[in-house]
Amino acid sequence: MNQPLHDTAPDFDQPIAVLKHCHGRIRKQLDTLDKLLAHLPGHGADEQARQAAAAVRKYFDKAAHLHHDDEEQDLLPMLRATAQGEDAATLQALAPSILQDHKDMDAMWQDLHEQLSAIADGSGTYLAPHTVRDFIQRYQDHMEREEGTIAPMALRLFDAGRMATLGAAMRRRRGIGMDAATPSACAPSAPAIGERVADLRTDYGQASLDEGDVAADPIDQFTRWFEEALKAEVNEPNAMSLATVDDEGRPSSRIVLVKQFDARGITWYTNYDSQKGKQLASKPFAALLFFWSELERQVRIEGRVERTTAEESDKYFNSRPLKSRLSAIASAQSEPIASRAALEHNYEDVARQYGENPARPSHWGGYRLVPERIEFWQGRRSRFHDRIVYVRQEDGSWTRQRLQP
Ligand SMILES: Cc1cc2nc3c(=O)[nH]c(=O)nc-3n(C[C@H](O)[C@H](O)[C@H](O)COP(=O)(O)O)c2cc1C
Repeated sequence: MNQPLHDTAPDFDQPIAVLKHCHGRIRKQLDTLDKLLAHLPGHGADEQARQAAAAVRKYFDKAAHLHHDDEEQDLLPMLRATAQGEDAATLQALAPSILQDHKDMDAMWQDLHEQLSAIADGSGTYLAPHTVRDFIQRYQDHMEREEGTIAPMALRLFDAGRMATLGAAMRRRRGIGMDAATPSACAPSAPAIGERVADLRTDYGQASLDEGDVAADPIDQFTRWFEEALKAEVNEPNAMSLATVDDEGRPSSRIVLVKQFDARGITWYTNYDSQKGKQLASKPFAALLFFWSELERQVRIEGRVERTTAEESDKYFNSRPLKSRLSAIASAQSEPIASRAALEHNYEDVARQYGENPARPSHWGGYRLVPERIEFWQGRRSRFHDRIVYVRQEDGSWTRQRLQP
């Protein structure tokens, strides 16, 4: 028989199989909890422990409750309504202990939840051994009883209609539509992408950054890293985030392309009347950020911003393709416009008017950030990254300092 390569979740049209599948997930979480208990004394709340604690907490906070509700609100009442004779007697004897288990396990979970939360955020390292063991034991006994008696009874007594009713109730509890693809009913509900981003986790470890490795001058160090970014063919190596502030100190950021860098600073080109242009006219300070993910590197550069000279701006403007030059003239950057058609119309007007050799408009040109602080960040294993910051001194020299990750 062909076995699926991975643990596929059964559909809600087989609700008893779904409940058993949930038991499998619970067993996995209990196993993790047990391993965490053994791991903590030797390793404390390290990255592995934090991840395990967060996973177990998430599971029992959400999915386990849904599973208990399935049993208490649907499965057991439906069995009570169906069972007769010996089945009814078995159920009458067993159901109170199942409900009591749920209550007791919930109470134990309250303690464990607190302890796991502290481990997950790195502020604690304690798990009460007896609570963990009681919790695991209680769940295991409980699941065995359900699998040995309750599940077979439901499979025997429920007709297709009852199975469909039970499955539909379980679906509704998880907010899953009837025609939606079935996500695992035992996953801690189907979280929105906004929640799932928290699970995206990359451990970095390609390289390290040591005080002894870096250049004395941060622009030399930046040049070295920039060359390495080019060699590694990172995506858009010269794209950087530019953050500016308005008069009330409210920040805004956007990507621009660095077009030159040297000992004087980092240069990009834009529209002086744009939002960033207005902000820089009033608050001439900015923060630049490069993230070269392929190399697990970030560079942060902060300082005062000045305009490049008209000659420099002319030179760069004239090096651009004709259509880019015409676009720069046609676009009142950051101003609203009625439609794409209106924008195209403006471009056509400008193209007709300026011909092949348009001069740089005075509202378009370069900015140069003169660095006062440059930080180099290299990702390391378990979030224990390397950070070296350079700070410019009054006399123009630079100090160099390691920062904690
Ligand atoms: C990859 C990339 C490169 C960009 N390069 C520039 C640039 O060099 N100059 C520029 O003015 N805008 C550039 N932009 C557009 C800006 O992010 C932004 O939309 C525009 O400058 C208006 O910003 P503002 O309204 O805050 O002034 C780029 C956007 C992206 C995504």
